[in-house]
Amino acid sequence: MLSTHTQNARFLQLDREFEEHRERYLDAVSAVISSGQVVGGDEVARFEVEIAERSGRAHAVAVASGTDAMQVLLAALGIDRDWKVLVPAYSFLATASPLLHAGAKPVFVDVDEHCHLDLLDVGEISGEDGPCAMVVAGLFGNGLDSAAIESFCAERDILLIEDAAQSFGALHTDHPGGGLGIASTMSFAPTKTLPCFGNMGAVVTDDAPLAERLRAIRCHGRAGSANPALIAGYNSMPSAVGAAMLNVSLEFHDQRQLRRQAIADRYNRAFSGVLGLAIPSVRSGSTTNWHKYVVTLDRRDDLQAFLGKSRIVTQIHYPRLIPEEPIFASHFNRSFPRAERLSRMSLTLPLHPHLTDDEVGYVVDCVLAFCADCRQQ
Ligand SMILES: Cc1ncc(COP(=O)(O)O)c(C=O)c1O
Repeated sequence: MLSTHTQNARFLQLDREFEEHRERYLDAVSAVISSGQVVGGDEVARFEVEIAERSGRAHAVAVASGTDAMQVLLAALGIDRDWKVLVPAYSFLATASPLLHAGAKPVFVDVDEHCHLDLLDVGEISGEDGPCAMVVAGLFGNGLDSAAIESFCAERDILLIEDAAQSFGALHTDHPGGGLGIASTMSFAPTKTLPCFGNMGAVVTDDAPLAERLRAIRCHGRAGSANPALIAGYNSMPSAVGAAMLNVSLEFHDQRQLRRQAIADRYNRAFSGVLGLAIPSVRSGSTTNWHKYVVTLDRRDDLQAFLGKSRIVTQIHYPRLIPEEPIFASHFNRSFPRAERLSRMSLTLPLHPHLTDDEVGYVVDCVLAFCADCRQQ
């Protein structure tokens, strides 16, 4: 029997986050606007210190979005048309699209059962045949096997970059999310575990000269407006209003993560063992941040339609592989069986820290009702 309380569940509710801490957020915004410094400044610097610390890095350079973070990083590393870059075939488009701007050649790789770039699928590529990098992404917040990835890249002279857009608060085998490789890019877009009321991103690294280059490239390639531009840069200075709100949000991050975990636990308890429905597989030795709760099933489209009629908003991550995007047509020359299966079968259920117990119960009831109905057919 379906719950008689709540009759819907939304995918994202930053309005609830705002209402919960309304005074704190408004005070922070008001102080920034009154200060007159609405881009960069103290709030951005404070945010960078906190982000560096939480990702176990010496430096953080905040930029306007996670996509910009990758773009700025590729420029700072000098990755250009001479480079090959290994990237997972299954991730958000922006894991790979900045490579096209850099002129680098993307080499797509299938993913493993945890939706991570599958090292066994890389083949013979190494840095000895020309400069080579690898971008790994801890998809859906699932921690990566960082020790295996690091030694794989070190043995082959491959420069390792982490797309940590979904990894804030996750733990890889032996690093926090954002702690892997030469540098990691982060996103604080509204759907992320540390959400901005707008867009913001960051690059985190232990490499001080790289951090200096990143700071210049995010601001027209100059180290300060009085200095000459020594490298082609961007205008990707982050908003001080956004940073001030993120600084408030950071205070409640751990609390929100506990709530994500509690909801995931409830889904896991309810759905494990349900015939035909696979719950997310969390890699042992790592900790997920439950950025997304993705189930897989054959009748994915039917479940999505059923939940939609029940006013439960779900999403598909991702309906197309990155190499299937028309912009990558010239780089799509093989199949990616695991990625294709995931893209056909995965459905992301609502999991955000502002869902009420009733709403979570309603999602559980509806998913179980659909699965029971399938068994009777
Ligand atoms: C894996 C991944 N990479 C990169 C990005 C890009 O981040 P942003 O949306 O902040 O530009 C995202 C955002 O959804 C992402 O999930």
